[in-house]
Amino acid sequence: MDWGMKNRLSKIIRPETGRTVMLAVDHGYFLGPTTGLEEPGKTVAPLLQYADTLMLTRGVLRACIDPSVNVPIVLRVSGGTSILGNLADEGTTVSMRDALRMNVSGVALSIFVGSDLERKTLLALADLINEAQEYGVPVLAVTAVGKDMVRDARYLGLACRIAAELGAHIVKTYYCDDFEKVIKNCPVPIVIAGGKKIPEREALELSYNAIKRGASGVDMGRNIFQSDHPVAMIRSVREIVHNNMTADKAWDFFNMIVNEKKPAMA
Ligand code: R5P
Repeated sequence: MDWGMKNRLSKIIRPETGRTVMLAVDHGYFLGPTTGLEEPGKTVAPLLQYADTLMLTRGVLRACIDPSVNVPIVLRVSGGTSILGNLADEGTTVSMRDALRMNVSGVALSIFVGSDLERKTLLALADLINEAQEYGVPVLAVTAVGKDMVRDARYLGLACRIAAELGAHIVKTYYCDDFEKVIKNCPVPIVIAGGKKIPEREALELSYNAIKRGASGVDMGRNIFQSDHPVAMIRSVREIVHNNMTADKAWDFFNMIVNEKKPAMA
């Protein structure tokens, strides 16, 4: 692996712990103005200092993020569909040249294993990896799941392994029962998405369980930015990811931060 690739990878997965807290705010690329991301710049501003990496699209990066900000970028480079259409029908939306111009640390693309467009998305991943290899840019493969697909270890294990076999450097998937099997069968680091907003305590448990079973971190969005206490949430997730904090302790930590911020009673 060349120096540039290793250097970029080390900006995504922190060498000190071998893990990452990736803040995902790319949802608008198919969901439009998702709750919490109406004004992405304002949403992420207080969170950036606690994120190892920021995952977003080219448009939001250019329009909403100050270029002097010190956070590595994982750029979503797939899209072209919306929640109203066939999500699997994505294409590559950003050239490697433009991604490099934005000084990204990695690029991300979704694959839709089991969909009618499986082959197209897998070959798009392979093409992206071929190009990214030329420039030393890590590729994050996002194992997207359709409405009809079961998120179990068999299916997610299949999708993760295929992404790794094609050469993805990191794979993003969902937590599931028997998650350790998904980890064991995938030779590259796996990060987990948070999925739809759930109560904070459950999201912390999800993060803890994933880390305990071998995840290399989280690529979490809605369970952070849709929380009433996004800073407390990302800080608590960070403790789990980098400091092996248990879910119970992280929940206490979350409440401590929330209570610290409450104005004193008159
Ligand atoms: C979905 O395809 C997007 O790539 C999100 O980045 C991903 O799902 C992680 O966000 P969340 O934790 O909200 O699921």
